[in-house]
Amino acid sequence: MAKQKRTKQQKQARGKNTSRQSLRIRPAKFTPPPPKEKGKLDYKPGKYCVRDLSLAKEGRKLIEWAESHMPVLMELRERYRKTKPLQGYTIAGCLHVTKETAVLVRTFVAAGAKVAWSGCNPLSTNDAVAAALAAESIPIFAWHGNHKDFYWCIERTLDFHPNLTLDDGADLINTLHEHYPQYAAEAVIGGTEETTTGIKRLRARADAGELLFPVIAVNDAETKWDFDNVYGTGQSTIDGILRATSVMLAGKNFVVAGFGHCGRGVAIRARGMGANVIVTEVKATAALKALLEGFRVLPMDEAAKIGDIFCTATGVNNVIRKRHFQSMKDGAIVCNTGHYDVEINLVELKQLTKSKRQIRPNCEEYRLKNGKKIYVLAEGRLVNLAAAEGHPSEVMDMSFANQFMSQIRLVELDKQGKRLPPEVIPIPPEQDEFIAQTKLQTMGVRIDKLTRDQQRYIHDYLAGT
Ligand SMILES: NC(=O)c1ccc[n+]([C@@H]2O[C@H](COP(=O)([O-])OP(=O)(O)OC[C@H]3O[C@@H](n4cnc5c(N)ncnc54)[C@H](O)[C@@H]3O)[C@@H](O)[C@H]2O)c1
Repeated sequence: MAKQKRTKQQKQARGKNTSRQSLRIRPAKFTPPPPKEKGKLDYKPGKYCVRDLSLAKEGRKLIEWAESHMPVLMELRERYRKTKPLQGYTIAGCLHVTKETAVLVRTFVAAGAKVAWSGCNPLSTNDAVAAALAAESIPIFAWHGNHKDFYWCIERTLDFHPNLTLDDGADLINTLHEHYPQYAAEAVIGGTEETTTGIKRLRARADAGELLFPVIAVNDAETKWDFDNVYGTGQSTIDGILRATSVMLAGKNFVVAGFGHCGRGVAIRARGMGANVIVTEVKATAALKALLEGFRVLPMDEAAKIGDIFCTATGVNNVIRKRHFQSMKDGAIVCNTGHYDVEINLVELKQLTKSKRQIRPNCEEYRLKNGKKIYVLAEGRLVNLAAAEGHPSEVMDMSFANQFMSQIRLVELDKQGKRLPPEVIPIPPEQDEFIAQTKLQTMGVRIDKLTRDQQRYIHDYLAGT
C-alpha cells in the first residue's frame, strides 16, 4: 500500500475517549458492495465469499491431516477449550488460507473467539480449505487467484468490528491505520504479525510514531524465525519449484538471493538435492556465513550469467532486474519466495519480451527479443505457497502456537485493564522455551537439565580457571 500523508482524523485518533459503538466501521445494516471477480464465486454477504463451497468435504480432510501433525497447537486447543479465554473478543485475520491456518482458526474458535478471515496473498488460498471454514460458519473471504478483490476481502473482515488483528505482511493493519485510524486507536487492543516483511513495515510505522496499537512480533520468536523461515521455506520452496517445473536440481547452478533465514533454508535444501548453490547478498556478515557454509558467493551481475535456477528470498524489491535478465542463459528459471512479488522486476522483463505463454501451471515462458527464453514461476509471488502447499504442518505448529499464545496474552492484559504500548513487542523468552519443550515432548525427544551446580557456575562472576 502506498505511503499516504497522515489525515487530520488519524493525527487526532489517539487519546479520544469514544465508545466502541460510535467507532463502528460501518453501520450494522451496511450492505457490502459485490466483489469485482467475474468467475464462479460462492458469496453470502456477511457470511463468506469463497471459490466453491462444494469443496468443503475435501477441505475438512486436509484440515484433519494438518491437525494430526500439529500437536502443540492441538494441546493448546485442549487446554483452552473449557475456559474459553477469548470469549467476547473478535479476531480479524489476514494470512494465507492453508490447512494449517484452518487449524489455528479452529483453535481460536474453540477458545471462544469470533474470527473473520481473509487471505494475505492472491495465489496462496487453498479453495477447499476456505470452503471448509465457510461451511463451519467462519466468516471467510478468500479464494485462489484473488487479484482484484484483495482489499475488498480485508474490508469484509472489518465488517465484524474486530478488537484483535492477526497479519502476515501487515496489509490488514495498514488498512485499519490508513482508512479507520480512530477505530484502530480506540477499538483494537492489539495485533500479531507473522512475517519478516510485515515486521519491517510495522517497525517503520512505529519509528514514525504512527503505530496506533501494540503488535506482537511473532516472526521474531526463536521458535518461528529459526524454524518456519529456515526449514519450512527451505522444503516448501523446493517443493514449489519442482511442482511448477519438474526439473532435476542435481548438477544445476541454483542462485539464492539473500542468505537470511529463508535464503539459508533454500540454499541448504537445494544443496541437499545436488545443486551447485550460489548465494548473492548485500550484507557482509550474511555473505561470510554463506561462504563458510561452503556456498559460492557472487554479485547478482555475475551469478545471472551462470545460473540455471534463481530464487529470491530478500524481502527487497528489484533484486533481479533488466540487466540480469539480459545476461541470463537461455531457459533460466526465475522464482521468488519473499513475501511480496517485488523481488523480480516483471515490468522490465516484459519490456524485453517478444511473446509470453503459459507452459504448465505456475510456469510462464517469456520469449525475449534477444532470442532467449526465461521461465517465471507463480507470477513472481511466493512460489512455495502459490505452486505448492506452503510449509509443512509440523513447522507451522510452532509458528501458530506462537500466534495463539500471543493473542491470548493481549486478551489477558485487556481483562486486567492493561495494554501494551503501541510498539512492535517481542515474544517473551518463556513462550519460546515452552513451545520448544512441548514440541520436543510431542516428538518423544528428551534433553538434559542444568544441574544446580551448573546453574550456580554460570551465574558466578568469580569462577575462572
Ligand atoms: N515463502 C514463505 O513462506 C516465507 C516464509 C517466511 C518469510 N518469508 C519472507 O521472505 C523474505 C525474507 O525473510 P527472512 O526471514 O529470510 O529475512 P532475513 O532478514 O532473515 O533475510 C533477508 C536477507 O536478504 C538479504 N538481502 C537484502 N537485500 C538483498 C539484495 N538486494 N540482494 C541480496 N540479498 C539481499 C539481507 O541482507 C538478509 O540477509 C521476507 O519477505 C519474508 O517476509 C517468506
